[in-house]
Amino acid sequence: MVHYIIVITLLALGLSPHCLSSKTVGGGYLYPQFYGHSCPKAQEIVRNVVAKAVAKEPRMAASLLRLHFHDCFVKGCDASILLDSSGSIISEKRSNPNRNSARGFEVIDEIKAVMEKECPHTVSCADIMALAARDSTVLTGGPSWEVPLGRRDARGASLSGSNNNIPAPNNTFQTILTKFKLQGLGIVDLVALSGSHTIGNARCTSFRQRLYNQSGNGQPDNTLDQSYASQLRRNCPRSGGDQNLFFLDFVSPIKFDNSYFKNLLANKGLLNSDQVLFTKNGESRELVKTYAYNQELFFLQFAKSMIKMGNISPLTGYRGEIRQNCRKINA
Ligand code: HEM
Repeated sequence: MVHYIIVITLLALGLSPHCLSSKTVGGGYLYPQFYGHSCPKAQEIVRNVVAKAVAKEPRMAASLLRLHFHDCFVKGCDASILLDSSGSIISEKRSNPNRNSARGFEVIDEIKAVMEKECPHTVSCADIMALAARDSTVLTGGPSWEVPLGRRDARGASLSGSNNNIPAPNNTFQTILTKFKLQGLGIVDLVALSGSHTIGNARCTSFRQRLYNQSGNGQPDNTLDQSYASQLRRNCPRSGGDQNLFFLDFVSPIKFDNSYFKNLLANKGLLNSDQVLFTKNGESRELVKTYAYNQELFFLQFAKSMIKMGNISPLTGYRGEIRQNCRKINA
């Protein structure tokens, strides 16, 4: 209650409650208790639906974590990724990074449906995704953090933003780092957040090049462990099998831990974008080693970097809207 009064007072004075929130680009702010009075059950609703979905299919935790990332890198964390094509909207679901790959939309729909019953027109789809990403991390054994809230939903999508801003697995280290810097994130965030690949799957098409023709000379990637590579080739042939699935972390694919970083030390990263963190830059190499030796440090930095990513230019105040259906803008 006291907190609420302080926030209201600061708002009435036209001040941003810096001490309680994280400042954002647009001058708005997010804070964990945003729905404390308007929808006290919001966090519980997300947690319950996510827990049920992950119990049914463990991979769903990874898919929900990734959705938040693919949302935030395109016009900020504004749920633009959830919009289906209609009218003038061309869905981001069709982009190269998302097509045949992004998933979890039905789980977000289910959360939203329960949320609209409990507190109509109150909780944004963008906030639901940020909470679902945190809950997915916790449910698989990773760190927890308080999620700053108060994002609103976009009234448009950006297919080109999705194609251009989200790093591709065959991008160079420099390109990937540049794409993170354009979002206000740095090398520490890049390495920690890549640790998300401790859970979830990737398709053959996302790393095939490494197995057969890494640099146009018909040779496999020499930074890929040879016996791991031959194992991968069994289900990821030179042609065909594009959609075949592989664990990003073959050691503990559904556990959020630091084995992703240990794998990189052993040249057993699945994606080129994973392995380059260890092979192409001294600073990121040191970070990979640090997290491989110290899971606690990884967890601490992961939580910090997730909050930072979640703060990428949210819509606040009167900007955007609270969508009633996450797949379409309000009439
Ligand atoms: C650093 C640049 C990154 C690149 C190049 C990248 C690329 C990829 C690719 C290619 C896949 C597999 C997609 C497929 O084959 O269908 C994937 C999966 C995944 N990514 Fe990333 N990613 C990056 C960073 C991140 C970040 C920052 C997060 C989260 C904060 C994340 C979370 C995930 C998760 C959890 C999966 C598994 C999804 C599932 O199983 O459904 N990634 N990523």
